[in-house]
Amino acid sequence: MTEEDRIKERVAVELTSARRRSLGLTVDVLESPELVAQHSPLMSPLVWDLAHIGNYEEQWLVRAAADDDPLRPDLDHLYDAFEHPRADRVTLPLLPPAEARTYLDEVRSRVLGSLERVRLTPDSPLLTGGFAYGMVIQHEHQHDETMLATHQLRQGAPVLEVPGQAAPFLAPEAPEVLVPGGPFEMGTTDDPWAYDNERPAHQVDLPPYWIDAHPVTNAEYLAFIDAGGYEQPRWWHEKGRSRLARTGKRAPAFWQRTGGQWVRRRFGRIEPLPPDEPVQHVCWYEADAYARWAGKRLPTEAEWEKAARHDPATGASRRFPWGDGEPGDHHANLGQRRLGPAPAGSYPAGASAHGCRQMIGDVWEWTSTDFTGYPGFRVFPYKEYSQVFFGAEYKVLRGGSWATHPTVARGTFRNWDYPIRRQIFCGFRCARDAG
Ligand code: AVJ
Ligand code: FE
Repeated sequence: MTEEDRIKERVAVELTSARRRSLGLTVDVLESPELVAQHSPLMSPLVWDLAHIGNYEEQWLVRAAADDDPLRPDLDHLYDAFEHPRADRVTLPLLPPAEARTYLDEVRSRVLGSLERVRLTPDSPLLTGGFAYGMVIQHEHQHDETMLATHQLRQGAPVLEVPGQAAPFLAPEAPEVLVPGGPFEMGTTDDPWAYDNERPAHQVDLPPYWIDAHPVTNAEYLAFIDAGGYEQPRWWHEKGRSRLARTGKRAPAFWQRTGGQWVRRRFGRIEPLPPDEPVQHVCWYEADAYARWAGKRLPTEAEWEKAARHDPATGASRRFPWGDGEPGDHHANLGQRRLGPAPAGSYPAGASAHGCRQMIGDVWEWTSTDFTGYPGFRVFPYKEYSQVFFGAEYKVLRGGSWATHPTVARGTFRNWDYPIRRQIFCGFRCARDAG
């Protein structure tokens, strides 16, 4: 079997499992009215995400990769994320669920039909290593995570099953680890399915710092609330302060206090707040304020990546905290196996060389860094994936959440969002200067 055949076999398997996941979040679990409804002004109707997944696949795999005739070029505008803000998409003449489903099936059968003949050769950067296929697989999984955020915001009876699987749990030996000063390699040049914003690999020299061995937990965050953290302006970034004043929010999203007890709503179920789980659904300003209250700060993106990937024994950076091998069930909480994070300190087998747990999976972690291109950044293959978002408006999040699929969750992957957002599955860990 050639390397090209191996890639194609993986592509076929991954396309199929991504689709099973997408259908499991849409047509398999909700009736039409719920698929076309807008559950939150922050999110698209689920049926928009669904057909957008198909249209993206048509553009990149039917047209660009295989050079086949377009199927539905008339849909390109409807499902162009830049033409219509999420809040407006419910008013568009979208394909109804059954038609969206048929469109996805047609696109997919064209893609699988041409896969054998498409050559994944080095003279086509788009196809080398199966890049375009990897991009489309990751795109579908990223929208599946977005659709999970829509499910979390949706009101009404639960439709997603909570798997009861326990995570291996062992509290870390120390609450913080010391990362010695010195250079490390940030980003990647060789990872075949890495996005343009993860490239190229480059050296970054950092002074020594302390970083938390696990993400901040609900109990730890509650101590900040109980200490009056939301009422004390000195912990808050100026824009965070005005945000608090406008919204009146005094706790993470989906938390409620009933009869002196904190509970949370998770995919339609009200549950006691689990003290040991990483806190989820806090915005960047809340994370930043907590860190200041705790006498710490958010890590920079480079600090996060060094703590996660740098191996002091070899001087090289690993693909994942535990090494270069693909994520297994014992390494990290990924891929929607659970419908939430695992207790802080879980997955000792997934610890980084510096001793940090849960850097991959569980919750996206806010960093203090604005989203920009690395030195030597080059747009590939289109500027609307990353470049148009570069600038001070967006903060970088790292590490993936419990909802992130393993194909997306490599140690170099970069996510970004507005600092006020909290509907994504985001938390944080803290850092501080050493010496
Ligand atoms: C990388 C998660 C910020 O959802 O806006 C989906 C991913 N890009 N379709 C987003 C993406 C194009 C992107 N994030
Ligand atoms: Fe998209």
